[in-house]
Amino acid sequence: MSLVTDAVEPVPTPQGVPVLEAKRLVKTFGKVVGLDGVSLQLHAGEVLAIIGDNGAGKSTLIKCLTGAYVPDQGELLLDGEPVHFKRPQDARDAGIETVYQNLAVSPALDVASNLFLGRERRKPGILGTVFRTLDTAGMRAEAREQLQRLGISTLQDVTVAVENLSGGQRQAVAVARAAAFGSKVVVLDEPTAALGVRESNQVLELIERLREQHVPVVLISHNMPHVFQVADRIHIQRLGKRAATITPRSHSMTDAVAIMTGAAVA
Ligand SMILES: Nc1ncnc2c1ncn2[C@@H]1O[C@H](COP(=O)(O)OP(=O)(O)OP(=O)(O)O)[C@@H](O)[C@H]1O
Ligand SMILES: [Mg+2]
Repeated sequence: MSLVTDAVEPVPTPQGVPVLEAKRLVKTFGKVVGLDGVSLQLHAGEVLAIIGDNGAGKSTLIKCLTGAYVPDQGELLLDGEPVHFKRPQDARDAGIETVYQNLAVSPALDVASNLFLGRERRKPGILGTVFRTLDTAGMRAEAREQLQRLGISTLQDVTVAVENLSGGQRQAVAVARAAAFGSKVVVLDEPTAALGVRESNQVLELIERLREQHVPVVLISHNMPHVFQVADRIHIQRLGKRAATITPRSHSMTDAVAIMTGAAVA
């Protein structure tokens, strides 16, 4: 692609019913148009990156997908069925897990407790139902299994408090938590923004594991190399609209930035 005029070969759209689909979402804040008719399709086992300049509508889009905002107009479909999320818990109950950059984990709790936060298991029988005793051993065993399944080998000890982990390991716990409970979709908001090279790589590997397990991932990031490393498709937001959806094969990072800033059209 060269700037402005050249036609680009169309990006092939994956086949089948999307796991998550947004159709013509509109979200306004008074006179400010946050989203102006944005559509998006997310298919099983794909990593869809969302990029765009500041104020382009990325967070607003994600919030509409995850129940934090109710769109003014447009439709949301999960496995082809219309859904109407009124609050984040509705989206979570439907299998959409969101990992926010800072609120992801509870530092004072250990790894296993973080994985089961809000979904604690009680012991079977009277101990659990009457005395509300937690099934700590069961949760720890399952936490170990879950981490192993996701290939998080740097976290052998699930009884360590999360505050003692590195930033990357904490992020890994947050992503593992999102992936732990048969999630349909995992949404990651700037997961590598505060991380070093090694830690970022751990998170990127984790994203690839999720894809291998057919869990689709929506990844918001300003980091072009990371986006181009893991994304199957890249949704580019510009001024509240979808400017283009490209792939790392069809376009270069320079192309993507040009579309983001309006220097080129896709
Ligand atoms: N709660 C709100 N009230 C008023 N305006 C808002 C609100 N949330 C978003 N906006 C506006 O909607 C537009 C899109 O904002 P949004 O936060 O989605 O951008 P973004 O792409 O996430 O940007 P950034 O990269 O800076 O995070 C902006 O003009 C923003 O000012
Ligand atoms: Mg934002």
